[in-house]
Amino acid sequence: MSQGIPFVDLRTQYQQLESQIRERIDAVLDHGRYINGPEVDELEAKLAEFSGAEHVVACSSGTDALLIPLMAWGIQPGDAVFTTPFTFIATAEVIALLGATPVFVDIDPDTFNMDPVALEQAIQRVKTEGELKPKAVIPVDLFGLCADYTRIEPIAKAHDLQVLEDAAQALGARHGDRAAGAFGHAAATSFYPAKPLGGYGDGGAVFTNDAELKTLFKSIREHGMGHHRYENVRVGINGRLDSLQAAILLVKLAAFPAELEGRNRVAAWYGQKLKTVKTPVVPDGTYCSWAQYSVLSEQRDDLMAKLKAENIPSVIYYPRCLHLQPAFDHYGYKEGDFPVSEEASRKIFSLPMTPFLTEDQVDRVAEVLNNA
Ligand SMILES: Cc1ncc(COP(=O)(O)O)c(C=O)c1O
Repeated sequence: MSQGIPFVDLRTQYQQLESQIRERIDAVLDHGRYINGPEVDELEAKLAEFSGAEHVVACSSGTDALLIPLMAWGIQPGDAVFTTPFTFIATAEVIALLGATPVFVDIDPDTFNMDPVALEQAIQRVKTEGELKPKAVIPVDLFGLCADYTRIEPIAKAHDLQVLEDAAQALGARHGDRAAGAFGHAAATSFYPAKPLGGYGDGGAVFTNDAELKTLFKSIREHGMGHHRYENVRVGINGRLDSLQAAILLVKLAAFPAELEGRNRVAAWYGQKLKTVKTPVVPDGTYCSWAQYSVLSEQRDDLMAKLKAENIPSVIYYPRCLHLQPAFDHYGYKEGDFPVSEEASRKIFSLPMTPFLTEDQVDRVAEVLNNA
């Protein structure tokens, strides 16, 4: 068996950044402000600069980064929040947590992101049925590719919907002249370790250009705090990011642009070398952060077995669409409701993607797939 290729490579990154990471961790241990330390403010400022969003509120996970704006907008039972069924559970879970109803919208077969035509149809249907109030839409920037905001934002505006960008996988991506984090009324990202910009534990951030919303987000993040910690003016959560995670992320953020270039280099190699699977489409005017490199094949299981035999890992994101998840049974969706998403879940699998893969390693992956 040949030497393994990592699916995600946190070890090489750590080796490259070790002394800086240890230095910043030591600084936190020295000042001892483990909660709301200066690293959190510094990270928020640097993320604002990086994304082009005016305000950033760091928080405890990507899931909380989605939950906080929905809470700020008062999303509640009876509200419809539109999103896709081809995403990680957290995107729809936060809607359900607030008692609102996730209304799923099928995806575009090339980008795996929300189909704007299907969004318009879903909004019209909900309005005609009259049972739910359309309130918000959560487009997902799946695998690191921004959703089609050029078409989604005007639809949302026409129907007076709040837009929450799920940029959990997409920090560093761009669509036209804007970067992930800067779309919609608010955006959410995740610093889960395997994300393009990942910490050493859970973490996330909310982005917005609206100063009033930022104040609300900060309050909700800290138990609905008012003027001080023990004045609680609304119901919130404990959603803070640890100073230690912020310290680690500051080092990784400085290295992130070069890593994004590395991911794009690897993606370009895959695109040139893979001959027997459908490779990802990157529309003109977009820059992908390649959280995953996902391909489609009718022979998925066979190809994944052949990769495994060569010690090459591959993973299915996502094997079951959200409308078919047992947790969402009560919404009454059934198989066939979202054919594009369902077909993707049957054919998709993701290949190793790290900024540190060599061309030889990509050649090995391509050889296994091309010869299968
Ligand atoms: C699309 C998407 N949304 C939300 C999340 C939730 O992020 P977290 O795991 O940091 O809570 C994730 C990642 O896990 C994700 O991939």
